[in-house]
Amino acid sequence: MHILVLNGPNLNLLGVREPEHYGTQTYADLTAMIAQEAESLGITAECRQTNHEGTLVDWIQEARGTADGIVINPAAYTHTSVAILDAVKAVQIPTVEVHISDPDTRDEFRKISYIRAACIGTVKGKGLPGYLEAMRTLKAYLDTRTT
Ligand code: DQA
Repeated sequence: MHILVLNGPNLNLLGVREPEHYGTQTYADLTAMIAQEAESLGITAECRQTNHEGTLVDWIQEARGTADGIVINPAAYTHTSVAILDAVKAVQIPTVEVHISDPDTRDEFRKISYIRAACIGTVKGKGLPGYLEAMRTLKAYLDTRTT
């Protein structure tokens, strides 16, 4: 089982960026945690980060035939991108949305998530461990589909 963990804009600045919302651990810390969780789940996970909306769309499309599932934090594009929603709907790959903070308790404009409608689940407000919960949710979902 292979999953993609996709991250949108500014998540490369974890550890530096607004620590009151995103904590003090770095993007490298996050990818290390994900690698460890993948190993204990007996799956493989590939992490990618980009600041570009179209690149996220390309990666979601390319996941067809290569990834069994997607964990995605679209960051600010959560609240703006119909293109990313459409890409997830188009490829029909089980996808879990994750946010480090809880956007629903922050600014009004963060309360809309376009991608949520295409996801099998959402994990938010749980810090970096939220990614690991999203991976477990995805694995459990994929397990029920294959058994
Ligand atoms: C975020 C929440 C978004 O509102 C914000 O634009 C981000 C990060 C989160 O992980 O909490 O960049 O997706």
